[in-house]
Amino acid sequence: MDYNFTEEQLAVKEAAREFAEMELLPGVIERDEKEIFPAEQVKKMGEMGFLGMMVSPDYGGGGMDTVSYVLAMEEIAKVDASAAVVMSVNNSLVCWGLEKYGTEEQKQKYLTPLAKGEIIGAFCLSEPEAGSDATSQRTTAEDMGDYYVINGTKNWITNGGTASVYLVFAQTDKEKRHHGINALIVEKDMPGFVVGKKEKKLGIRGSDTHSLMFTDVKVPKANRIGEDGFGFKLAMAVLNGGRIGIAAQALGIAAGAYERALKYSKERKAFGVEISKHQAIQFKLADMATKIEASRLLVLAAARLKDANEDFTKASAMAKLFASQTAMDVTVEAVQIHGGYGYVQEFHVERMLRDAKITQIYEGTSEIQKIVISREILK
Ligand code: CAA
Repeated sequence: MDYNFTEEQLAVKEAAREFAEMELLPGVIERDEKEIFPAEQVKKMGEMGFLGMMVSPDYGGGGMDTVSYVLAMEEIAKVDASAAVVMSVNNSLVCWGLEKYGTEEQKQKYLTPLAKGEIIGAFCLSEPEAGSDATSQRTTAEDMGDYYVINGTKNWITNGGTASVYLVFAQTDKEKRHHGINALIVEKDMPGFVVGKKEKKLGIRGSDTHSLMFTDVKVPKANRIGEDGFGFKLAMAVLNGGRIGIAAQALGIAAGAYERALKYSKERKAFGVEISKHQAIQFKLADMATKIEASRLLVLAAARLKDANEDFTKASAMAKLFASQTAMDVTVEAVQIHGGYGYVQEFHVERMLRDAKITQIYEGTSEIQKIVISREILK
């Protein structure tokens, strides 16, 4: 299919593909099994410009468009979904929010090292009792004049242990509900900030997911992003963009599993012929390829709307909803095509099946995407 990619976009895709094959593939099974964060690989991703792709070169970024970003994301996720989520959170949730809404001082101090990949960022919205219901933040940021004092707990934070900079959402004025929430930049070594336990997960086991505890953490007012009470709006805006990245991650997981299943079906023989000659397998491959193609079109449509500065709220939610379901469907079938081999580590697809599930949960569950889509349709 002709997607009208530019030379530059194709070059980015090729660079990401090569990087994934050369640097991420070796060791991906071991990192999954032992829950090892791909530290060296993430460092190299930073050096190659994959951690601040869309940030302006003025702040150390690649100055690329969203289409280039999703092409790179797909290639990385095809091989290692854990590395892909580190990339997604840093690019979409942390760098993008800082560049769009941060002050010049915040951009110089935080965005530049984040975009260069010298440090990693985390986005801290979810709480033990506020996941989908994000307006019900219990973490507080008491206004003390020149600074805020943060108290509370955040849960399931991607890059929680490895990040140096945390965008933390906290309630300053409970009466104002979501209009009383602020987004504050917290540095790892601020007194009172503690990284809690690392979660043991079904999938994306190479990424580090932690709870975070805040006890009387003093954060200067200069670290607030946007006006007083703008935090929730910022979170929603950032998540709209982040969903394009997760949709591309889901697409990559699906495409990676499909490519492996296709190859295997042409090699493996049963009943005297390659299994790809059996219609039972052909039908599966046809379904998988069609769903992947449809996902890619939705992901690209959302990315292109964002690049054109048009509203992409509905498009990004649709892309994430469909691509994450595709990741589930395709990885299940990839395991099935592999038969017994699909159920063991060496053939990669069992990991991809486990990795796929999170794409239906983080940055808004599939049910949340349907809320976003239906609100956009009905408004
Ligand atoms: N885009 C822009 N603004 C939005 C928005 C969107 N998609 N959704 C809501 N808003 C705005 C509304 O316009 C409203 O603003 P006003 O009051 O000024 O009109 C405000 O936000 C509140 O909206 P609602 O009254 O609709 O709020 P709600 O309580 O009904 O919830 C929701 C809305 C869409 C369900 C929202 O809570 C939501 O998106 N929840 C999911 C949260 C989420 O995605 N969490 C993921 C955690 S981050 C993560 O996973 C990162 C990681 O580690 C990988």
